[in-house]
This record gives sequence, C-alpha cells and structure tokens, in this order.
Amino acid sequence: MSTVDQKVSVNPLHPEFLRQAYRPKEIILPTPEEVDRFAAETVIEQVIQKPNSYITFATGGTPIGMYQLLAEAHRNGLSFADVVAANLDEYWPIDTSHPASYAQFMRDTLFSHIDIDPRNCHIPHGDARNQYEEAAKYQNVLTQLGKPDLTILGLGPGETCHIAFNGPGTSIDSSVHYVELDEETIEANQRFFGPGESVPTGALTQGVANILNAQKIMMIVKGEGKAWGVNRSLRGPISEEAPASLLRFHPDVTVIMDEEEASMLS
Ligand code: GLP
Repeated sequence: MSTVDQKVSVNPLHPEFLRQAYRPKEIILPTPEEVDRFAAETVIEQVIQKPNSYITFATGGTPIGMYQLLAEAHRNGLSFADVVAANLDEYWPIDTSHPASYAQFMRDTLFSHIDIDPRNCHIPHGDARNQYEEAAKYQNVLTQLGKPDLTILGLGPGETCHIAFNGPGTSIDSSVHYVELDEETIEANQRFFGPGESVPTGALTQGVANILNAQKIMMIVKGEGKAWGVNRSLRGPISEEAPASLLRFHPDVTVIMDEEEASMLS
C-alpha cells in the first residue's frame, strides 16, 4: 500500500483525496488471449464461490474474448442462473435493439449464451424519453441491488483514461448520470456503427462513486493504444482529470493487461 504523492494535483480540500491510496494488483500477461483467460477465470471463480454474485459488466471490444470463455464455461456446466448483472453504461438515445446498443451487445456476446435470468440483467434504457429521469431510475436500481461483488471495467481510448463513460473531470462522488460524449470517445466507438451511421452524442453511465462501491474491481486492458492511459492511471497523479487513476482509492483492484499495454509503465 502506498500513500498519495505530495505532488498530486487534486483538490486538497476534497475529503476523498485525504484518504489513503492503494496500489492495484498488476497482472501482466504476454498476449491478449491470456488476458481473456485470466479475466474469465476470475469471473468463473467468483460465480463458483458465490453463485448469486452481483456482477457489473462492461462493454466495448475488450471483454468480448472473456465473454466467449464464459459462454464456453457455461457449455461445460457452469450455471449463471442466480447471477445478478448490472451494466456500466448505455448510449443515449439509442434503440435498444440497435446492434451497437449495449443492451444488444450484452445479449449477443454473453447473455444469450448463458442461463442468466433476463429479469436479473440491468442496464440503463437507451430508449428512455428523458435521459435525466432514466439516470435517476437506474441509480435507484443500483441502490436496491447494493454492493457489487465484482465490477469489470475496460479502459477508455487514448488519453481519456475513462472508466465506463466517465471522462476527464468527472467527480469522484458522481452517481449515475447523463454525459455528452467527447470527440475521442465518439471516434473510438465509430467502429461499432455502420457506415454513414453516427455514434449517439450522449450516454447514461454509472458514476465513479458507483464503481468504487464494488467489493472488488477488475480492470482489463487490451487492444491498441492503451499503454499511455494505463501508465497515466497507475503511475500518474491521482486526479479527476484521469478517472481511472481514482481506482487507486479502492483497496481491491486488479488490472490485467498484456505486455504491449504494460510497455509504458514506469
Ligand atoms: C467505451 C465504454 C467503456 C469501455 C471503453 C473501451 O467507451 N463505455 O466502458 O471500457 O469503451 O472500449 P474498448 O474495449 O472497445 O477499447
């Protein structure tokens, strides 16, 4: 465990920053495939130990390989029937059957391949009429569910250091909220949309406080262009300017990454 560096550029009056910081466990594996396997084994172990685990799921390209391995574990006999799932985020506005919506993504990549009860799968409604009302409703859902046993995260593209859709400047106290997406995030997510189709300009996201509420956090880092962000988040100043750096205020974080993404770690 390390303490927050004296030179940290955070608001020193903010009570959260007066807490001690921790050093996340770093697992560096040679290939992205080994990252998928390690991450999947962590989830499988969680479900075996506690079949009714409450797990927060992530989207994006990063967890796809892990989800395939979870589907395989189910085919080999692992049951997810009692698992409770809540997702980190969803675009707004978006039709929930749009292939790039996170609701559809979760059905396609994981939920339709395992025996999880759809009534236990929670995700913000991208087709809600009012984004602010939907944010408040999703916060209520999370409050009812309590503390996640495990929260799975990816890391945002480039220099965003975002977790879920919490970009630079998001408060450590933030709960579920609506965000306008920045250019870098829109560009990075364009690949999930068809040619000529625009990425929605906004999203509903769990806030940093929701993420830090988990018992245990597992951040998976693979795919191109995350090396700078990983180093900034794990070694740079703890600051709301790099939301992933705030994970260092949580006592049980594991970051699983491949060698390429770990290559800039100082
Ligand atoms: C999106 C999601 C994040 C995810 C990030 C990384 O912005 N909202 O939760 O971690 O993308 O995406 P990818 O895994 O595709 O690099």
